[in-house]
Amino acid sequence: MNSRFSFVLGLSLAVLAPQTVSAETVWLDQLDVRSAIQGWGEPHKNKSVEGHALTIGGKEFTRGFGTHAESILNINLGGGAQSFFASVGVDDEVNSNAQSSVEFFVIGDGKTLWSSGVLRANDAAKSCEVELSGVKSLTLKVGDAGDGVNFDHADWVDAKFETAGAKTFVASGEEIPDPVAPYILTPNQPATPRINGASVFGVRPGSPFLFTIPATGERPMKFSAKNLPNGLKLDAKTGHITGVLKTKGEFIVTLRAKNSLGTAEKKFRIVVGDQIALTPPMGWNSWNCFAGAVSEERVKSAADALVKSGLINHGWTYINVDDFWQNHRDSQDPTLRGKFRDEKGFIVPNSRFPDMKGLADYIHYLGLKAGLYSSPGPWTCGGCAASWQHEEQDAQTYAQWGFDYLKYDWCSYGEIASGGDPNAKNIPLWGKTATNDAGAIYPYKVMGKFLREQKRDIIFSLCQYGMADVWNWGGSVNGNCWRTTGDIVDTWRSMSGIGFKQDKAAPFAKPGNWNDPDMLIVGQVGWGRTHPTRLTPDEQYTHISLWCLLSAPLLIGCDMTKLDDFTLSLLSNDEVLALDQDALGKEARCVLTNGDLRVYEKELEDGGRALGFFNLGAKPANLDFNNFAALNLTGTFHVRDLWRQKNAATVDTAKDSLPLTIPAHGVVLYKLAPTK
Ligand code: GLA
Repeated sequence: MNSRFSFVLGLSLAVLAPQTVSAETVWLDQLDVRSAIQGWGEPHKNKSVEGHALTIGGKEFTRGFGTHAESILNINLGGGAQSFFASVGVDDEVNSNAQSSVEFFVIGDGKTLWSSGVLRANDAAKSCEVELSGVKSLTLKVGDAGDGVNFDHADWVDAKFETAGAKTFVASGEEIPDPVAPYILTPNQPATPRINGASVFGVRPGSPFLFTIPATGERPMKFSAKNLPNGLKLDAKTGHITGVLKTKGEFIVTLRAKNSLGTAEKKFRIVVGDQIALTPPMGWNSWNCFAGAVSEERVKSAADALVKSGLINHGWTYINVDDFWQNHRDSQDPTLRGKFRDEKGFIVPNSRFPDMKGLADYIHYLGLKAGLYSSPGPWTCGGCAASWQHEEQDAQTYAQWGFDYLKYDWCSYGEIASGGDPNAKNIPLWGKTATNDAGAIYPYKVMGKFLREQKRDIIFSLCQYGMADVWNWGGSVNGNCWRTTGDIVDTWRSMSGIGFKQDKAAPFAKPGNWNDPDMLIVGQVGWGRTHPTRLTPDEQYTHISLWCLLSAPLLIGCDMTKLDDFTLSLLSNDEVLALDQDALGKEARCVLTNGDLRVYEKELEDGGRALGFFNLGAKPANLDFNNFAALNLTGTFHVRDLWRQKNAATVDTAKDSLPLTIPAHGVVLYKLAPTK
């Protein structure tokens, strides 16, 4: 205890003595620490961010709060606390990772009362004692020490308040916008036929072709196509186009959907060539809802729900199984135990996935496509068997089962890249990052090559968090999309922190190569124990609008069997989705920053521009926008409100302004089309 502190504390105790209030201890873990906002993972009480016992510098602690930089926990003390005691440090679960570096702050009514200085992996816990008399609002913050948040697992242990009678305090995350009930902007779909989705589709010569015409409107519907190239056939009832195209070339097809109320037509370009994923992949992935609790049944139900909900009619296609379809290295769960590979070295799925080919067939039968997950190291991020030294066999196996998408992680490869013993028993899952670019690129080159050798179009999705500026080289290793960031969680801080920091990679997006800011976090999400997303309705509008502007792969992360109307409305607005699927493939960039306002602009194939006006503030914003010069726009434009699917105005950039009301943490999403 320093002398200033003991003096002040002594003084306040002396003042309080006559009032006969009994001193109380309020432990930090008694408050709702789960409301903390943090950069990765979930806040935990009495456990580390990954759910292990809290351990700092080799010492274990039973009480505390495990979090991850950047982390904010606001506590409303209302002047009721006298002092705060804690020890802080990096949790040992990071396995001595050199990138772990954090700094802890105690902030009272906006002033920093204490900070830890930079702490790294293996440092002993540092003790913290802070006098709090009179402090109304306290913030416990963990910063990333200036080098990004990678491996910044941070613990506040033995953390407690001494109070003069107060028995508890209310904790929360950041400044929160006033509550708004979910409100649906997407208009109801017309009963007349409408063909949605991308206008271009890439396939490699000789690969099985599968495309389902996404069309809304009353059923029954009859599909037909003009100029369908030889080798393809169309099922008139389902709209599934299948077959094989043997030689390179381009075909302009007219797709037609007819029901009792009318007929819709759409020009559709089929490009037979080297490149696939000519528009960003759209579908579902099991991780953000089921994580380690995924099973064949759950995947089939997700596929069924994608069809039944009608989302298939808006272009949603992939059903991707993430981690935990393989056997686990040390889980106690018997359904995850068994041989990793057979005698010949081929991967053996766990008992929850008894028939992988059957699963892929099931998904294809519905007109959808199937995806899988692995890692280049010996173990996946969840600790299941991965592809190290079996890359070719694995690529062959995926193709033979009929999978169309591979998400390929990084976990446990870092040790190998930096020369560790690949056969060592305890290769850490969250091992090192690559020590050099070649180390970072190599494993993707290997898998990319073997995937390309298959007689099947398999989208290759790199999941290495943007290491070694992946956008520079992802395409050269046959990657179709690559993560640019760590994992997303369903908080404003996480989603906005990722979404609004994509400009660096933006110029590298193009048909066949997409930046991936991670999966969607709308609906019931929760990594094993689902809950409604913690994003407000306006934050969800921001999330979907921004991901579409960014030409991001759109992978729904929620429990598809529990889709509510609001979530469905977010995922089925064809004018919004059309931005993501635009054939030009240009990723939006931030063209204007002004206070909490961010304006994103995306060029579109038809010569129009999409504009996202985002309000990052926690209060609604009203403004008259007329800085068209910043957006490089001159002339007269029709302004279309994409969420409402309504014309909003016509503006002459020389004299008009656009009146905007942008909700707190929300967006106004417009498309501007030249009048001539
Ligand atoms: C990493 C990825 C996640 C998920 C898990 C699986 O964290 O970033 O998206 O695939 O691994 O263990």
